[in-house]
Amino acid sequence: MSQPSPNDPAHSASTGPIEPGAPAEPEHASADSAEQDPPFSPDLSIGSRTTTPYEDYVQADVLTHLQHPLSDDPGEMVFLVTTQVMELWFTVIVHEWHTAAEALRRDDLTVAMDALHRSTYELEALNAAWKPLARLTPAQFNAYRSALGEGSGFQSAMYRRMEFLLGEKSASMLVPHRGAPREHAELEKALQEPSLWDEVLRLLARRGHAVPDAVLRRDPALRYEPDPAVEAVWAEIYAGSQEAELVRLGEALTDVAELVWRWRNDHLVATRRAMGAKMGTGGSAGVAWLEKRARKNVFPELWTARSHV
Ligand code: HEM
Repeated sequence: MSQPSPNDPAHSASTGPIEPGAPAEPEHASADSAEQDPPFSPDLSIGSRTTTPYEDYVQADVLTHLQHPLSDDPGEMVFLVTTQVMELWFTVIVHEWHTAAEALRRDDLTVAMDALHRSTYELEALNAAWKPLARLTPAQFNAYRSALGEGSGFQSAMYRRMEFLLGEKSASMLVPHRGAPREHAELEKALQEPSLWDEVLRLLARRGHAVPDAVLRRDPALRYEPDPAVEAVWAEIYAGSQEAELVRLGEALTDVAELVWRWRNDHLVATRRAMGAKMGTGGSAGVAWLEKRARKNVFPELWTARSHV
């Protein structure tokens, strides 16, 4: 892929006529040897291919033509692209948490921790993506808001899958996706599968910790409710060696929980700035509803256990 190219202007420049006063090329430098001298420039020829290997892999042409603003307002483009970028990060994060959950099921803590750590960097990148929308004034947002109709991030299937993996299950959240068979099937599967938190608790039980049977055998399609015995297990783990594998697992999960909470709060503040106490396009009470959602603690016992260490 990185062969020197005769078409490269950089190369022809080095083999062109020598400017008056310019230092003469060394005697051994010929067109051929100049092309072979590092650093080589990328190949400009793609032979008989109709597309580039980059395009085949990245599908950048597809990706960069998926932007169809609904208004004439120039500010809508960044709203749309930020939303699309966040959807892509949701997709990567779901992939990481899925990898982590499967690895925990196999007792492979190395793979699980790698995936969780990657997901914290991805969550940071996701949260950084709020920047262009964080300071919208109501007038700026109004310029395209009505064009969004009833469209709302509330209808994001990938965000819902993230919540399901965190243990925040809700069958009613499938309702908006009834008309989209693929999304609905993926959500239904995610609803029925044990969450990342369920897999963590099963691993703790296999390692001899007193996780109650009722927790281990709970219906994974139901929202996880915090349990005092699970809190006691984490308090015991955290009271032990800080180098222990399970403390490191607890801390990686706490990082995830904190960053999800930060996303929710950044979303809440951006919404408060852009639309005050108006109703949401998805039909909710808007900020008041988001405030309630942002109060939820991800992996609750990892937070409450800290009071008992
Ligand atoms: C400043 C711009 C934004 C405003 C004013 C805003 C406003 C809202 C409001 C009012 C809701 C509540 C549901 C409703 O009635 O619509 C909501 C939910 C939601 N929004 Fe946004 N939003 C913004 C940007 C974004 C972006 C860029 C994303 C990225 C995908 C996003 C994702 C979500 C999600 C996932 C929910 C559901 C939250 C939950 O179920 O707890 N929002 N948004």
